[in-house]
Amino acid sequence: MTASKLTFPIGFEWGVATSAYQIEGGVLEDGRGESIWDHFSHTPGKIHENESGDIACDHYHRLDQDLDLLHNLGVTTYRFSIAWPRIFPAKGKVEERGINFYRRLIDGLHQRGITPTVTIYHWDLPQWLQDEGGWVNRETVDHFVEYARLLFQEFGSLVPRWITHNEPWCTAFLGYGLGVHAPGIKDWGAAARAAHHVLLSHGLVVKEFHRLDLKGEIGITLNLNHVEAASDSDPDRLAADLADEFSNRWFLDSIFKGRYPQLLKEGLFNPHLGNWDFVQSGDLEVISTPIDFLGINYYSRTVVRYKEDEPMHVERLTASLPTTEMGWEIYPHGLYLLLKRVREEYTGELPLFITENGAAFTDEVTENGAKGKSVVDTKRVEFLHDHFDAALRFIREGGPLRGYYVWSLMDNFEWAEGYSKRFGLVYVDYATQERILKNSAKFYQRVISQNGIEAVLEPHA
Ligand code: FCB
Repeated sequence: MTASKLTFPIGFEWGVATSAYQIEGGVLEDGRGESIWDHFSHTPGKIHENESGDIACDHYHRLDQDLDLLHNLGVTTYRFSIAWPRIFPAKGKVEERGINFYRRLIDGLHQRGITPTVTIYHWDLPQWLQDEGGWVNRETVDHFVEYARLLFQEFGSLVPRWITHNEPWCTAFLGYGLGVHAPGIKDWGAAARAAHHVLLSHGLVVKEFHRLDLKGEIGITLNLNHVEAASDSDPDRLAADLADEFSNRWFLDSIFKGRYPQLLKEGLFNPHLGNWDFVQSGDLEVISTPIDFLGINYYSRTVVRYKEDEPMHVERLTASLPTTEMGWEIYPHGLYLLLKRVREEYTGELPLFITENGAAFTDEVTENGAKGKSVVDTKRVEFLHDHFDAALRFIREGGPLRGYYVWSLMDNFEWAEGYSKRFGLVYVDYATQERILKNSAKFYQRVISQNGIEAVLEPHA
């Protein structure tokens, strides 16, 4: 008996995603400047086993091979980011060799019939800008607009989909609040400023893109969480509201409603801020400039309850569902609930993309003699199947989901976790830089070629 098929709409876009610092390596090549991630990862004690992106997947030197890998997977679109310090290695200095690398990448995608999707900022701020305050300094906004304008001039006619920022939550709150990402600052006042400037730079770049009247579309990628209260009690529901403002609404409300939510202002930021004078008149109108699509990165859910002695009285419960290697609960239904909620409360008929979804598991390579090597990553196959299913449910209800980018094309440098977490469809042997298709890559090839999934996942898929 063959299982029945669940098909996606014609033209649904299937992609994979990566980011520059996580895969490129070649950090000293072709005049590239230092980024905050070079700086941070070379600061002892910040990254798992003090690893760095110095070599990563050596993608900078293996571009053609990796383009062939994308072609072999059968993806219709590829989401990658441009490294700002390759383009502006120093203040006022433009590096042509950096531009040329991305031109080769974009041309190589077109030659293989793959649509480029460019993330302008995926966290690798030039260190020279950090030395002037980074995202806490409002002048960084102008530099970002200058950088984006240059990309639009160079690649505007070649790239149909642009993402201003990847996950401003991480840039601002992990980078400047919790300090676990570059630049490693622990100051919630700085985090509020950084978030505001990142959002402002997003709005100004969207305006600039539309002013130039380019043919493509532009949006932003947010990491959103499905937040649940541990119980129906009023205190637990209050904790969930706060967690929701923290994880989701700080960005959704400002981008789609032109305002910041209240609870978080009082609960987290106000004790660290003299005042909000960095939010100037007109800023929120700029931040809420209409976009052409919203990108959503979905990985997990958060369950919280009220607890007196926790910061903001919010306690995050430990996982009760099976988790990935990141410790993140596997909850595909949360993707459906999140998409539905975002559509109802914020985006209506605006096109949506899942710009990241995927899972880290401990993968092992099996030697099969003459048949070569394999990686039997059954959990990842199940994870993806069930999340595709959840996305399809949203689409069947009329939800405007247009495409799906799996994180990630290949194993790579997972920020503070270094190389200890493997998210790839393709296994990377870092000692040899060999790429090995995992079973999940073969599963994804079938999904793409059939534009759908089996209703029930067949064993050993
Ligand atoms: C997201 C990041 C991406 C990757 C995944 C696992 O937060 O955008 O670079 O690290 O998580």
